[in-house]
Amino acid sequence: MQTEAEVFGAEHITSGVGRLTEYVLEKGEGSYVFTDQGKKLLDLTSGIGVVNVGHCHPTVTKAAQSQCGKITHAQVNITYSAAQITLLRALLDVMPFKELDTFFLTNSGSEAIESCVRIVRTVTKRPNVIVVQGSYHGRTAGAAAMTRSKTVYSMGGHPLMGGVFATAFPFYAQQGEPVDTPEEQLSQKALAQLRLLLEQQTAPCDTAAIFIETVLGEGGYVPAPASFLQGVRAICDEHGILYVADEIQSGYGRTGTMFAVERIGVRPDIMVMAKGLANGFPLSCVVGSKEIMKKLPAGTLGGTYAGNAVACAAATAVLDVFRDERVLENVAKRSEQLLAGLDAIRHTPAGQTIEQIRGHGLMIGIQFKPHDVSIGGMLAQACVEHGMLVLTTSIFDVIRLVPPLTITESEMDEALRILCAAFEAVGQRLGAARATSTM
Ligand SMILES: Cc1ncc(COP(=O)(O)O)c(C=O)c1O
Repeated sequence: MQTEAEVFGAEHITSGVGRLTEYVLEKGEGSYVFTDQGKKLLDLTSGIGVVNVGHCHPTVTKAAQSQCGKITHAQVNITYSAAQITLLRALLDVMPFKELDTFFLTNSGSEAIESCVRIVRTVTKRPNVIVVQGSYHGRTAGAAAMTRSKTVYSMGGHPLMGGVFATAFPFYAQQGEPVDTPEEQLSQKALAQLRLLLEQQTAPCDTAAIFIETVLGEGGYVPAPASFLQGVRAICDEHGILYVADEIQSGYGRTGTMFAVERIGVRPDIMVMAKGLANGFPLSCVVGSKEIMKKLPAGTLGGTYAGNAVACAAATAVLDVFRDERVLENVAKRSEQLLAGLDAIRHTPAGQTIEQIRGHGLMIGIQFKPHDVSIGGMLAQACVEHGMLVLTTSIFDVIRLVPPLTITESEMDEALRILCAAFEAVGQRLGAARATSTM
């Protein structure tokens, strides 16, 4: 039976917004969300990698509430904002490279990406940017032009922003290689494609930057191999091209280090973050060196709500939680627990559908062997039936596990129990479908 809210949504909310379930959420607390019908769901999506310290973390909520009583809108093209300055001081301490010390705060990931396009074009005086096949940089017009994970993000929206070229990403499924192809081989092949692109399609003197998600998100939860990013850095250095790391989904502790580039040790010229930054308040950030960020004429960047004071206060509190609750230590432990549990599932009969389990920290993707139905889609639905939210990702058959980074040991056990039950349910459904088709 549909609730009143569902009926209203079906009639008055655009069909352009797709959703995993028709539930209506009323409340969130830690790793759980609650529907208007009182149903409790374990959230292994974190609202697409956003509530990294859990839903409505009391420290973050309190900081936002307190800021609401001081000033909510301290417009950044008019004055400095105290909430912004406090946040930026705290952010400086967690930057993975000391060169990343000059910031621009805005609202969403897409806006940050588009601001970044403006920055790299202005600074290099070159028009073109390169993205990788499978990339997701957002849905607004410019960001959609840079998104190559699924055609649905650009379909019907052409002509898109010009000057965007796509190169290969070292991902076996995209390169048509077997699952066990060595990473180094995939990287070298992708780097050769990048060099070709720079010789055949966009000359280095016309190329401002290459944008790379350190872990492809919408493209399938595929970490960029270190050898690929090292090769990209070398090519960028050779040609004066800027390397932009999109850490919007992979940043903020998601992969076990504050930013995924940290584990690899390759320094981007510019880094973009959002999502976990303010744990659900709209805030995003572009950070680069002074050499880059101080070349912009005043007025080229800004925005009515850019770096909103309440979002900044929440973001400062997020960093307090990371420090006080040792969030990164929890990521390491829970990641180990999750990967061990998934390995056990893989060895069950129902787990035979798994082709690859990949990722670091609590940004884990499971890719399924090719099948005539989407096993990931069936699994996500079975998880919902068992009281847990799980998302699929990419055009390949992949589910992504993105729990809050504060998930406890017993909650992770619960997640693994539900996953196990969902795998079994899917296994039974596939078996029943096979039996029916052979009758
Ligand atoms: C890697 C990456 N870049 C950019 C974006 C766009 O961010 P937003 O949805 O806040 O515009 C996303 C959102 O999922 C993302 O995952």
